[in-house]
Amino acid sequence: MTRFVDLSLYSLALLGFLTAPVWAADPENGRKLARKCTVCHGKLGIAKDPEVPNLAGQSAFYMEKSLKAYRSGTREDRRMTLMAKPLSDDEIKDISAWFESIVVTVAEPE
Ligand code: HEC
Repeated sequence: MTRFVDLSLYSLALLGFLTAPVWAADPENGRKLARKCTVCHGKLGIAKDPEVPNLAGQSAFYMEKSLKAYRSGTREDRRMTLMAKPLSDDEIKDISAWFESIVVTVAEPE
Protein backbone atom coordinates (compact mmCIF):
# COMPACT_ATOMS: atom_id res chain seq x y z
CA MET A 1 0.00 0.00 0.00
CA THR A 2 2.74 2.44 0.97
CA ARG A 3 4.53 1.51 -2.17
CA PHE A 4 1.40 2.22 -4.19
CA VAL A 5 0.98 5.63 -2.54
CA ASP A 6 4.63 6.46 -3.14
CA LEU A 7 4.30 5.53 -6.75
CA SER A 8 1.18 7.62 -7.32
CA LEU A 9 2.78 10.64 -5.67
CA TYR A 10 5.80 10.14 -7.84
CA SER A 11 3.64 9.95 -10.98
CA LEU A 12 1.76 13.09 -9.98
CA ALA A 13 5.00 14.97 -9.41
CA LEU A 14 6.33 13.74 -12.72
CA LEU A 15 3.15 14.77 -14.49
CA GLY A 16 3.39 18.24 -12.97
CA PHE A 17 7.01 18.50 -14.00
CA LEU A 18 6.26 17.40 -17.55
CA THR A 19 3.24 19.62 -18.14
CA ALA A 20 3.88 22.87 -16.26
CA PRO A 21 6.98 24.23 -18.04
CA VAL A 22 5.65 23.29 -21.47
CA TRP A 23 2.28 25.01 -21.22
CA ALA A 24 2.57 27.81 -18.68
CA ALA A 25 3.24 31.25 -20.10
CA ASP A 26 5.32 33.62 -17.98
CA PRO A 27 3.73 37.10 -18.02
CA GLU A 28 6.58 38.56 -15.89
CA ASN A 29 9.09 37.54 -18.54
CA GLY A 30 6.65 38.89 -21.12
CA ARG A 31 6.63 42.23 -19.33
CA LYS A 32 10.42 42.47 -19.74
CA LEU A 33 10.31 41.39 -23.37
CA ALA A 34 7.54 43.92 -24.05
CA ARG A 35 9.75 46.88 -23.13
CA LYS A 36 10.72 47.22 -26.77
CA CYS A 37 7.06 47.37 -27.75
CA THR A 38 6.21 50.32 -25.50
CA VAL A 39 7.79 52.94 -27.82
CA CYS A 40 4.80 52.49 -30.12
CA HIS A 41 2.17 50.62 -28.10
CA GLY A 42 2.56 52.64 -24.88
CA LYS A 43 3.90 51.57 -21.48
CA LEU A 44 0.76 49.63 -20.53
CA GLY A 45 -0.40 48.85 -24.04
CA ILE A 46 -2.39 52.02 -24.69
CA ALA A 47 -0.99 53.66 -27.81
CA LYS A 48 -0.93 57.39 -28.53
CA ASP A 49 -0.35 57.16 -32.29
CA PRO A 50 -3.73 56.57 -33.99
CA GLU A 51 -2.07 54.19 -36.45
CA VAL A 52 -0.96 51.88 -33.62
CA PRO A 53 -3.50 49.55 -31.97
CA ASN A 54 -3.92 49.22 -28.20
CA LEU A 55 -2.73 45.92 -26.76
CA ALA A 56 -3.81 46.32 -23.13
CA GLY A 57 -6.15 43.49 -22.16
CA GLN A 58 -6.00 41.95 -25.63
CA SER A 59 -6.66 38.21 -25.61
CA ALA A 60 -3.46 36.18 -25.61
CA PHE A 61 -4.99 33.94 -28.27
CA TYR A 62 -5.42 36.84 -30.70
CA MET A 63 -2.01 38.34 -29.83
CA GLU A 64 -0.25 35.04 -30.49
CA LYS A 65 -2.10 34.58 -33.76
CA SER A 66 -1.23 38.12 -34.93
CA LEU A 67 2.43 37.96 -33.92
CA LYS A 68 2.88 34.61 -35.67
CA ALA A 69 1.18 36.01 -38.77
CA TYR A 70 3.57 39.00 -38.84
CA ARG A 71 6.50 36.66 -38.23
CA SER A 72 5.56 34.33 -41.09
CA GLY A 73 4.59 37.16 -43.44
CA THR A 74 0.91 36.19 -43.83
CA ARG A 75 0.10 39.55 -42.19
CA GLU A 76 2.27 42.41 -43.36
CA ASP A 77 3.35 45.60 -41.71
CA ARG A 78 6.84 46.98 -42.15
CA ARG A 79 7.28 47.77 -38.42
CA MET A 80 5.58 44.71 -36.99
CA THR A 81 7.34 42.27 -39.32
CA LEU A 82 10.63 43.67 -38.02
CA MET A 83 9.47 43.33 -34.39
CA ALA A 84 7.99 39.82 -34.71
CA LYS A 85 10.73 38.19 -36.81
CA PRO A 86 13.21 37.53 -33.96
CA LEU A 87 10.57 36.28 -31.45
CA SER A 88 10.46 32.59 -30.51
CA ASP A 89 7.14 30.80 -29.86
CA ASP A 90 7.82 30.93 -26.10
CA GLU A 91 8.58 34.67 -26.19
CA ILE A 92 5.35 35.29 -28.14
CA LYS A 93 3.43 33.29 -25.51
CA ASP A 94 4.98 35.28 -22.64
CA ILE A 95 4.49 38.70 -24.27
CA SER A 96 0.88 37.82 -25.11
CA ALA A 97 0.21 36.66 -21.54
CA TRP A 98 1.60 39.97 -20.26
CA PHE A 99 -0.61 42.18 -22.43
CA GLU A 100 -3.65 40.01 -21.66
CA SER A 101 -3.02 40.41 -17.92
CA ILE A 102 -3.23 44.23 -18.06
CA VAL A 103 -6.56 45.25 -16.55
CA VAL A 104 -8.72 47.47 -18.74
CA THR A 105 -11.91 49.20 -17.63
CA VAL A 106 -14.45 50.63 -20.02
CA ALA A 107 -17.28 53.12 -19.66
CA GLU A 108 -20.26 53.72 -21.86
CA PRO A 109 -20.13 57.13 -23.60
CA GLU A 110 -22.37 59.79 -22.05
C1 HEC B 1 7.72 50.93 -34.47
C2 HEC B 1 6.42 50.86 -33.80
C3 HEC B 1 5.99 49.50 -33.23
C4 HEC B 1 6.67 48.71 -32.35
C5 HEC B 1 8.04 48.98 -31.70
C6 HEC B 1 5.82 47.57 -32.09
N1 HEC B 1 4.66 47.67 -32.80
FE1 HEC B 1 3.11 46.33 -32.80
N2 HEC B 1 2.14 47.45 -34.18
C7 HEC B 1 2.59 48.63 -34.72
C8 HEC B 1 1.67 49.07 -35.76
C9 HEC B 1 1.78 50.33 -36.60
C10 HEC B 1 0.65 48.09 -35.83
C11 HEC B 1 -0.53 48.03 -36.81
C12 HEC B 1 -0.04 47.27 -38.00
C13 HEC B 1 -1.10 46.82 -38.97
O1 HEC B 1 -1.82 47.66 -39.49
O2 HEC B 1 -1.17 45.58 -39.19
C14 HEC B 1 0.99 47.09 -34.81
C15 HEC B 1 0.21 45.96 -34.57
C16 HEC B 1 0.47 45.03 -33.59
C17 HEC B 1 -0.38 43.91 -33.28
C18 HEC B 1 -1.71 43.57 -33.93
C19 HEC B 1 -2.81 44.16 -33.08
C20 HEC B 1 -4.18 44.04 -33.66
O3 HEC B 1 -5.09 44.61 -33.05
O4 HEC B 1 -4.38 43.37 -34.68
C21 HEC B 1 0.22 43.22 -32.27
C22 HEC B 1 -0.28 41.97 -31.58
C23 HEC B 1 1.45 43.93 -31.96
N3 HEC B 1 1.56 45.03 -32.76
C24 HEC B 1 2.33 43.54 -30.98
C25 HEC B 1 3.58 44.14 -30.77
C26 HEC B 1 4.57 43.62 -29.86
C27 HEC B 1 4.38 42.39 -28.98
C28 HEC B 1 5.66 44.43 -29.95
C29 HEC B 1 6.98 44.29 -29.25
C30 HEC B 1 7.66 43.02 -29.44
C31 HEC B 1 5.32 45.48 -30.91
N4 HEC B 1 4.05 45.27 -31.39
C32 HEC B 1 6.16 46.52 -31.25
C33 HEC B 1 3.72 49.33 -34.34
C34 HEC B 1 4.72 48.84 -33.51
